[in-house]
Amino acid sequence: MRGADDLSQPARLVAGNWKMNGASGALREAHALAEALSQAPAACRVALFPPALLIHRMAEQVAGSSVQVGAQDCHAESDGAYTGDLSAEMLHEAGARLVILGHSERRTGYRESDADVTAKVEAALRGGLEPVVCVGETLEQRDAGRALDVVAVQLQGSLPDSLDGHPFAVAYEPIWAIGTGRTPTVEQVEVVHGRIHALLAARFASGAAIPVLYGGSVKPSNAAELLHARGVDGALVGGASLKAADFLPIVRAA
Ligand code: PGA
Repeated sequence: MRGADDLSQPARLVAGNWKMNGASGALREAHALAEALSQAPAACRVALFPPALLIHRMAEQVAGSSVQVGAQDCHAESDGAYTGDLSAEMLHEAGARLVILGHSERRTGYRESDADVTAKVEAALRGGLEPVVCVGETLEQRDAGRALDVVAVQLQGSLPDSLDGHPFAVAYEPIWAIGTGRTPTVEQVEVVHGRIHALLAARFASGAAIPVLYGGSVKPSNAAELLHARGVDGALVGGASLKAADFLPIVRAA
């Protein structure tokens, strides 16, 4: 792994997004993961993003291990009359250190725009959370040859300039690959990651150090191939992150 002050290369990150899965019994999976990594440390950073209610207990459970805990979303404001929402500050207090923002399930299900994501990224920085900002095209957009343009527009619109110098990651998640078992070819992944890295380098002084993760149907059997594609600095894993037995081989492949 790189030193904390080496900004020439991204630190690799494998992140597990539990989505709305995992009641308290699932904490044993986080414990098993932390135990395994304590015995044989990973070559990358590892983070789990459980439902918000589990953040506090999971953070206590993995305390002292290399596993970090993150949130799946945050509100753009720090506090106020926003029924049902949670702020970055609250999530940080609960033990979160990272936050996924702009996941396609939020962009689609909650009509989150690029501007909404930017506001949430600003909130995450204020609250001390490291954003993992997601972008990705639909199948229709890919078939129309627009994948690169869509991703570029999302990326530029979802990242505020204030991110420069702060740790953050980008996750490329083609929507048609999420939860479907379908994955892009290595070449398709490399093309998009190459474009994302170029845009980040052009825009941010810290561009070369920003990890770009691949997400969408990553599993133990395809992890090595996807994780070693050019420009891929880690993975954002959904379904296969719920069980330590599936997630660990992905972490080991990074
Ligand atoms: P998946 O989800 O690995 O289950 O396809 C990925 C994601 O949505 O982050």
